[in-house]
Amino acid sequence: MKPVRVGICGLGTVGSGTVNVLVRNREEIARRLGRSVEIEQIGARRDNPACDTTGMNVTRDIFDVANNPDVDVLVELIGGYDTAKQLVLTAIANGKHVVTANKALIAEHGNEIFAAAREQGVIVAYEAGVAGGIPAIKALREGLSANKIQWLAGIINGTGNFILTEMRDKGSPFADVLKQAQELGYAEADPTFDVEGIDAAHKLTILASNAFGIPLHFDKAYTEGISAITPRDIQYATELGYRMKHLGIARRRGDGVELRVHPTLVPAKHLLASVDGVMNAVLMEGDAVGQTLYYGPGAGSDATASAVIADILDVARLLDAPTAAVAPLGFVESDQQIPVLPIDKIHCSYYLRLHVSDQPGVLTRVTEILSHNGINIDALMQKEVREGDGCADIVILTHETLEAIMDTAIIELEQLADVTGSIIRIRVDHLEM
Ligand code: NDP
Ligand code: HSE
Repeated sequence: MKPVRVGICGLGTVGSGTVNVLVRNREEIARRLGRSVEIEQIGARRDNPACDTTGMNVTRDIFDVANNPDVDVLVELIGGYDTAKQLVLTAIANGKHVVTANKALIAEHGNEIFAAAREQGVIVAYEAGVAGGIPAIKALREGLSANKIQWLAGIINGTGNFILTEMRDKGSPFADVLKQAQELGYAEADPTFDVEGIDAAHKLTILASNAFGIPLHFDKAYTEGISAITPRDIQYATELGYRMKHLGIARRRGDGVELRVHPTLVPAKHLLASVDGVMNAVLMEGDAVGQTLYYGPGAGSDATASAVIADILDVARLLDAPTAAVAPLGFVESDQQIPVLPIDKIHCSYYLRLHVSDQPGVLTRVTEILSHNGINIDALMQKEVREGDGCADIVILTHETLEAIMDTAIIELEQLADVTGSIIRIRVDHLEM
C-alpha cells in the first residue's frame, strides 16, 4: 500500500518528539498499519537539536506544508490561536486531514474548525490535546460509547500537578517549581495558562463535549488556578486526611452541566490523590460501566508524541472512508439545549480557613452563621496561634451545599469582628456517587 504522507508543523517539544518516535518506531508502526508513515515535509522556523532532520524536506514557512499537494495529513504542533487556526483551515480547505495537540485551538475554535472539516469531508483529530499521552478521548468516545456519562473528574494539567506535588513533598517555592516545569518542556508558552487553570479548562471543555454531546463551551467554564494555594492549606488538608489537587470536573445535573476547574481537596485514600508529578488521570463515571480511571503522563515530548501518532494512524486507517470516522466531539447530534451551570449553582463540600482572634465565643459565632445558612459541618480543627497576632486558624470541612449559600455564609463570616482578612475557600470532592 502507498505510504501515508504527513507534514509536521512546529518542531518544539511535541514536534521533535513526534519526529523522533515516527523515525524510531517506523517499522513497528508500519506493521500495525499495513503501510508506512512517511514524513513528507516539516515546517519549522529553525532546527531543533532534540531531533535529527537530516535528509528531510524542511521548509521555514509552515504554510508550504498546508499547500503541499503531497501531504495527506497536516500535523499542527505550533500552538497558539491565530496562525494555528489559519494553518488548520488552509489545510482543511486543501482537503488535508489534520492532527493537532492544540487544545486551546479546539476548545475555543473547534465548533468552526469541525464545521469546515465536515464540509470538506476530512478528519480533525486532537487526542494529544487532552491529558498528554493518555488516550482519554478515545476511551470516552469509543470505549465508553454505550454509556450515559454522569460525570468525569481529572488532573489534566501536568505542570500544575507537578507544582503541587513538589510544593507538598519538598516545600519548594511555587516560582522555582514552575521554572523547573518550563525547563522540562511541560508548561505552555504562556505558563499562566497552566497555573491559572486555563489550559485545564480547555481540556475539560473538550472532555465535557465528548461526554455529554454538547457544543464546546469554553467561555462558560469556571476557572480558578493554583497560584493562591499556600503550603499552610496543603498542610492542613493533609492533617484532615485530604490531598490538594487541581481538578477539572464536569458533572451532569438535572438542570444542566457543571463545568469547573479549581483546586480541590480529595480524600488521601482516593486513587486520584496519589497521582503525582507530571502524571495526569481522568476518572469517568458511566451509567453502565461505573467508574473507570485513565492514568499516564500528561505532558512531555515522547509521551505527547505517542498520542499525536496514534491519531495519525487512526486517520490513516480512514483515508479511504473518512465519513466512517467517529464524530469530532463523539456525538453526531449535539444537544444545544443543555446549559452550563454558573458556578453559584454547583453543589459541593467545602474547606474553609478562617484567621480569627483567639477569644472565647468565636467558635460559637462562626458555627451559628453556618447553622442558620443550613450548612452542616463535617469536621472542625483549631490550630494554635502562629503569627503572634493573637489569632488562630479555624479550619472547617462542610457537607455538600449550594455554592450560592456558601457565598452568603462567607460574606457573613467575613463581617464578624473576630475574623481577620479573607476566608480561604477550597472545594472538596469525594469523587463518589
Ligand atoms: P513549543 O513552544 O516547544 O514548540 C512550538 C514550536 O512551534 C516551536 O518550535 C516554534 O518555533 C514553532 N512555531 C510557532 N509558531 C510558528 C510559526 N508561525 N511558524 C513556524 N513555527 C512556529 O511548544 P510545544 O511543543 O510544547 O507545544 C506545541 C503544542 O502542543 C501546543 O499547542 C501545546 O499546547 C500542545 N501540547 C504540548 C504538550 C507538552 O508537553 N509540551 C503536551 C500536550 C499538548 P520557535 O521555536 O521558532 O518559536
Ligand atoms: N502545559 C500542559 C500541561 C501540556 O502541563 O499539562 C500538556 O497539555
